[in-house]
Amino acid sequence: MFVRNHARVPVPDTQAQTAKPHLPDAQTVTAVTHWNESLFSFRVTRPQSLRFRSGEFVMIGLLDDRGKPLLRAYSIASPAWDEELEFYSIKVPDGPLTSRLQHIKVGQEIILRPKPVGTLVHDALLPGKRIWFLATGTGIAPFASLMREPETYEKYEQVIMMHTCRTVSELEYGRQLVENLEADPLIGEMVAGKLRYYATTTREASPRMGRITDNLASGKVFADLGLPRMNPAEDRAMVCGSLAFNVDVKAVLESFGLREGANSEPREYVVEKAFVGDGV
Ligand code: FAD
Ligand code: A2P
Repeated sequence: MFVRNHARVPVPDTQAQTAKPHLPDAQTVTAVTHWNESLFSFRVTRPQSLRFRSGEFVMIGLLDDRGKPLLRAYSIASPAWDEELEFYSIKVPDGPLTSRLQHIKVGQEIILRPKPVGTLVHDALLPGKRIWFLATGTGIAPFASLMREPETYEKYEQVIMMHTCRTVSELEYGRQLVENLEADPLIGEMVAGKLRYYATTTREASPRMGRITDNLASGKVFADLGLPRMNPAEDRAMVCGSLAFNVDVKAVLESFGLREGANSEPREYVVEKAFVGDGV
């Protein structure tokens, strides 16, 4: 039998990027979409035993050059009822994982550790009238799951998705997802009239601009959507973005009287990092 000598024989690129089929946690890629030069999404098969709550994240990855798993945290962007799993990813040019993950193709495999966790879940919030999803960049991923989750519309009268990126093309994944939701045979009826989408850019001109923090603090978003100022009696929020964004938006939410909650102690808002960076 021919045995590949990994130490000496260069592994072709396509094989280096995939987990070997005999790995217990391997899942097969079923679709890949590139949104621009720095963002892509992909779908994989779902392990039959995997149960998760919409909004949670898992560890996914590839084998590194030495055959060891190279794993990173990823929000599951698909809802809990979906037969497959979807992920929405950055392409970090020199990133250990994403410099390779961005080249995956349908039929190849990734590693997926089936242990979902996270704070962006409905159980971590007290009941309310409106829920605000506040995201920058790839922080929209957990909300791509929660916007497709029936429980979101059962629990709240209004759902507001605020997403901010530097440029228009970075908003496209979320824009198309929202646009297609009302036509969705499974969830379209629940979404109609309840979901408000408020997307802004900060560096490229677009119809709506400005940071989420500024549009909340100035009251612009409430005026634009015809909603009352955020208040702890009616409003709940989930936050996912860079550390700097999370810190600043927390201060704004607290200024409206909302308090941070957790799975163990539900309150008015919850926060999760979209990535670890900024020297943290
Ligand atoms: P890394 O060495 O991990 O990162 C290199 C640098 O790139 C970081 O220091 C940071 O400055 C920057 N960076 C990393 N991720 C991002 C990002 N998403 N947006 C902007 N800059 C970034 N990433 C996703 O693309 N999609 C997700 O759904 C997602 N969910 C996450 C959930 C959690 C709870 C956490 C902690 C992280 C999540 N990440 C997500 C980030 C992810 O774990 C990796 O950091 C990312 O895939 C890059 O991996 P890498 O090995 O290529 O580079
Ligand atoms: P800005 O262009 O004004 O910095 P990034 O790509 O740096 O992660 O930023 C993604 C989006 O989040 C950008 O639109 C950026 O706006 C915005 N942003 C970054 N930091 C903050 C912050 N501290 N508060 C509010 N918005 C922020």
